[in-house]
Amino acid sequence: MRGMPRTDAPLVVLGPGAIGGLVAALLERAGHPVTVVGRAGSVAQVAAHGIAVESDLVGSWTAQPAAAAQVPHGACVIVAVKAEGLEAAAALLAAAAPAEVLSLLNGVEHLDALRAALPGTRVVAGTIAGETLRTSAGRDGPLTVRHRGRLLRVVAPADAAGLASVRALRDTAADVVVDGTQAQVLWLKLRFLAPMALLTSRWDAGLGEALDRDPAGAQALLAEVAAVASAEGVPTTAQDLHAILAGLPPTMRSSLQADVEAGRAGELDAIGGAVQRRGRSHGVATPALDTTIAAVEARLR
Ligand SMILES: NC(=O)c1ccc[n+]([C@@H]2O[C@H](COP(=O)([O-])OP(=O)(O)OC[C@H]3O[C@@H](n4cnc5c(N)ncnc54)[C@H](OP(=O)(O)O)[C@@H]3O)[C@@H](O)[C@H]2O)c1
Repeated sequence: MRGMPRTDAPLVVLGPGAIGGLVAALLERAGHPVTVVGRAGSVAQVAAHGIAVESDLVGSWTAQPAAAAQVPHGACVIVAVKAEGLEAAAALLAAAAPAEVLSLLNGVEHLDALRAALPGTRVVAGTIAGETLRTSAGRDGPLTVRHRGRLLRVVAPADAAGLASVRALRDTAADVVVDGTQAQVLWLKLRFLAPMALLTSRWDAGLGEALDRDPAGAQALLAEVAAVASAEGVPTTAQDLHAILAGLPPTMRSSLQADVEAGRAGELDAIGGAVQRRGRSHGVATPALDTTIAAVEARLR
């Protein structure tokens, strides 16, 4: 049965990467005792040295949250793994019978996966915007997170206002917006993130150049993603998406692009594949999307 989380339930951030590390440090700084849960290397690093944040918005400090390999029973959990870590995260959560779960992954299908793994638990998907990178890989010392620029926004559906994690995030320096339906929260982001990530990865270029390399192909891709978003309940046109992308810095690059450059598929399937599959389920043909994904996959080979 879905119930209100106990107010004394432990607050956990699962996946202390760039986003998880930043969120955990922000919560601790706001006075919320928080535990980070993750794989052995990161857990040991946080336990020994903490999380050092360098943020243009919030400044620099080192947080010292608790760190553990397992999710405490009945916790209120913020999930911040990457798609590759979702299965492991779901298994840890299933063993912990959490009071509530708020995921911050990009994409849409993680919500179904987490809900399937956690019958009876309230699972909500939010989104987070803010350019963040974990910069300490392989180094001795704190887990280091660099947050660039002044944008740091968490968006959660209107009916998630009462979640303990959402209420705690409101005490941090992040701008927390609680508005709209679950589908709106996810698709208002994915509808522009997918073309941005796919085009920059396909052309290995900044967003401006990536849009200009094959304008007709880009326009077709935007029309298809818009059709899928509309079918998901977020009415969108290709012009809407073009306007959003044109408003972003033309030099903007994506983390999928960084993964592809490094020979990793990263969240290609969680972002592009998810739009393809949702398109298929709605009977929306996506030839331009299919071509773009195939071109990114060819770069990986
Ligand atoms: N970074 C951004 O600017 C940004 C902005 C908005 C949204 N997002 C989204 O936020 C999510 C997290 O991204 P991120 O940039 O924080 O990623 P990240 O820095 O790569 O961190 C990923 C986290 O997931 C864990 N993980 C990865 N593979 C795993 C596996 N197989 N099993 C268990 N755990 C695994 C990592 O564990 P280890 O600690 O052991 O490495 C790490 O804690 C993604 O969905 C991303 O699209 C990111």
